[in-house]
Parts: sequence; structure tokens; C-alpha cells
Amino acid sequence: MTSISYHAEGGVALMRMDRADKKNALTLAMYSAMARHLEAANNDSALRAVLIAGVPGAFSAGNDLQDFIAASSSGGLGDPVLHFLRALVGCNKPLVAAVDGVAVGVGVTMLLHCDYVVASQRSTFATPFVDLGLVPEAASSLLGPRLLGPQRAFELFALGRRWDARKALSAGLINDMIEDEGTEARAIEVAREITAKPPNAMAITKRLLRSDRDEVLARIDEEAEHFKACLRGPEAMQAFTAFMTRKK
Ligand code: COA
Repeated sequence: MTSISYHAEGGVALMRMDRADKKNALTLAMYSAMARHLEAANNDSALRAVLIAGVPGAFSAGNDLQDFIAASSSGGLGDPVLHFLRALVGCNKPLVAAVDGVAVGVGVTMLLHCDYVVASQRSTFATPFVDLGLVPEAASSLLGPRLLGPQRAFELFALGRRWDARKALSAGLINDMIEDEGTEARAIEVAREITAKPPNAMAITKRLLRSDRDEVLARIDEEAEHFKACLRGPEAMQAFTAFMTRKK
């Protein structure tokens, strides 16, 4: 079981992260499944938009920290994470995200690749990379300052401050803030709005708006090198152990 579900209907693919008991912490199997679904959606001419959602209260708690611990001893994050990030960047269909609850790490950085983000009022956004002895990933070190400005990007990606939905809205990280129950419905509405537009013009427009694709892919690789080195370092190991043993 990969804890990722995928369903396509009416021109919209809905991909859901569904590991509620771990707040949608992403395992390597989940990354692989999401990469495959994104590629399938990208190649399906009947589809006009992809909606990425989580479960009530959890969009994603980021990378599974157990996997980080395993990766730090085996020497790298493994291909599934990079496969997922490349599929995200390579997706020509507009991506809509419905965020409800916690969004941490890659749960935030994947939003930088989405074309429209709807979030509930109770959502929170945090990227504690530095606190974990790590560095930003998913080209967030490039897209973050572009989207938010360098100072707000520093606050989020270097200081690891947790933002509430209001702050995320004012900073431009999300498009809409919704009463908690209506978030996914609103995201579906946006996806339908996309499907109603002329598809060719929409596809060209998305491509033009995301014309920095090569630069983004290069930054993902550059970050991954630093990430890999940091994962093996004492700062990361200490932080992971502290998290995994905090309830004992
Ligand atoms: N990796 C592995 N397990 C995780 C996880 C992660 N990233 N995030 C949450 N979990 C697990 C917890 O260990 C806990 O498991 P348990 O019930 O077996 O003890 C379960 O999910 C619920 O998490 P909990 O911390 O009890 O929920 P919460 O609502 O109090 O807090 C978070 C939610 C997301 C704020 C908190 O879990 C957290 O900070 N997680 C780590 C996030 C992180 O650092 N991600 C990596 C970013 S690069």
C-alpha cells in the first residue's frame, strides 16, 4: 500500500496523499507513486488539470524522518524523491493544491510548483530545513525568493518560522484562504475553471509562465548535492533522533 490515491474524472486528476496516522509524512514508496501518477496525468490527453490534496488536518508533514535516518546511513535520499520533483516540474497540466492542516518541508516546497493553491484557515506552513541540519530542496532556494521576496524567503526557509494561512496569503504563497470545510470543494472549482478554458492556449500559457524550467531542474540537482552531504552530518542526525525519541 502506497498511501497515495489517484482518480481521474471530468478532465481533472485528483491525487491524494493518504497516510493520516503519520500526518502524511512521505515515504519513498509514496514519492514513487506520486511521480508515476503525475507522469500518467501529463501523458493523458483527456486531462486538463491535476489536483493535489491531503487528508483533513494534514496536507503533508514532509519527508518521513525514518526514511531520512535510513538515507543518512545509506548515503543519499534515493531516486524516488528526485523522480517526484522532476515529474512535478515536468507536468504541463496546471497543478492545483488543496491544503488543509499541516504543511511541512516538501509539503510546502511542492506548492511552489503548483499553479494555484487553496488553503484552509487552520493550515500552517513550515520548512524547518536548517533546524534539521538540512538545506532547502525542490528548488525552493530559487523559487522561494522569487515568489516571496528574499526577506520573507529567509524567514520561511532559513529561520524555519511557521506561518499561518493569513501570513501565507499575504506573502503570496497561497491564492485563497477558505473556511476549513470548503477547501477541497474550492480547489475542485478552480480545477473545473481550468478545464473550461481552451486547452491549447492554457497549455502554452502555463509553459510561458513557467519558462524557468531548466534553471529549476538545475537548482533541484544543486540543492540535492548539499542535502545529501548535510544528511550525513551530525547536525541532521541529532535533530532526527530528537524528533523520533521526543515522546519516549
Ligand atoms: N516523519 C515521520 N513520522 C512523522 C513525521 C515525519 N516527518 N511527521 C509526523 N510523524 C508521525 C509522528 O511521529 C507521530 O507518529 P506516532 O503517532 O507513531 O508517534 C504521528 O506522525 C503524528 O504526529 P504528531 O507529532 O503526534 O502530530 P502533531 O499534530 O502534534 O504534529 C507535525 C504534527 C507535523 C507538526 C509534527 O509531527 C512534526 O513536526 N513532524 C515533523 C515534520 C518534519 O520535520 N518534517 C521534515 C521536514 S524536512
